[in-house]
Amino acid sequence: MSGPILEIADVEKHFGGLAALGGVNATVESGRLTAIIGPNGAGKTTLFNVVTGILAPSAGTIRFLGRDITRSSVHEISRLGLARTLQIKSVFHGLTVRENLWIAAQSREGVFKPFANAKTCRRANEQADALLEELALTRLASQQAANLSYGDVALLEIGIALATEPKLLLLDEPICGMGPAETERTVEKIRELSKRIDIVIIEHDIEVVFDISDDIIVMALGRVLARGTPAEISENAEVRSAYLGDDDA
Ligand SMILES: Nc1ncnc2c1ncn2[C@@H]1O[C@H](COP(=O)(O)OP(=O)(O)OP(=O)(O)O)[C@@H](O)[C@H]1O
Ligand SMILES: [Mg+2]
Repeated sequence: MSGPILEIADVEKHFGGLAALGGVNATVESGRLTAIIGPNGAGKTTLFNVVTGILAPSAGTIRFLGRDITRSSVHEISRLGLARTLQIKSVFHGLTVRENLWIAAQSREGVFKPFANAKTCRRANEQADALLEELALTRLASQQAANLSYGDVALLEIGIALATEPKLLLLDEPICGMGPAETERTVEKIRELSKRIDIVIIEHDIEVVFDISDDIIVMALGRVLARGTPAEISENAEVRSAYLGDDDA
């Protein structure tokens, strides 16, 4: 499938006098792994928050799969097939890996049906097992999430987002804080996943971004400074001074 899966037009988000997003225009093409880069405070996370319905935009339009979701709720957007992970990792530490995935799978159907029947239970079981397998977490299924390595927590978080069966997955700095080996393993998993669902990744590590992405969107001061392929972006003088000047990545 090709064509835009996400269209962001003139999107603004103001916090008091601060324009965290000052008129963002961007499209995400289906079938192409898209990275968003930009210095701290550029508005990257705010853009994810606005796209997923966590924050209402002050102005502009957001279309997902051709459908206007600008005023849709978090739940509506999730049910349409848009999922995300958070910049600060969030899993249930007291539960096992499998329980975390099971609850995520179960809640997808259970939001409007709090008393799950045997069928939704079975489906959640199957889905939790499939996610354990896909993320290579089966050997850790009974481990409490609190005891996981940082890399495994990141994969579990991705698994929780995948439990909603998204068409588009937004990852906010998924490898932040990882060493080289964990980074490599997580990046490989993201690359694999991007073959079956569309992915947008916010990432500071330029090497990873250039390695993994098909398209790069560069943000600065709440706007899109440039977009293009890794080759185009690496040759863009404006990007080099604005982005690399502010972040020695
Ligand atoms: N809920 C909020 N209330 C007030 N200001 C906010 C809020 N969320 C973000 N901001 C401000 O909006 C601007 C953009 O923040 P945002 O978190 O989107 O940046 P970012 O590009 O994700 O940065 P980082 O790379 O550090 O994660 C910053 O100046 C931030 O302080
Ligand atoms: Mg951020």
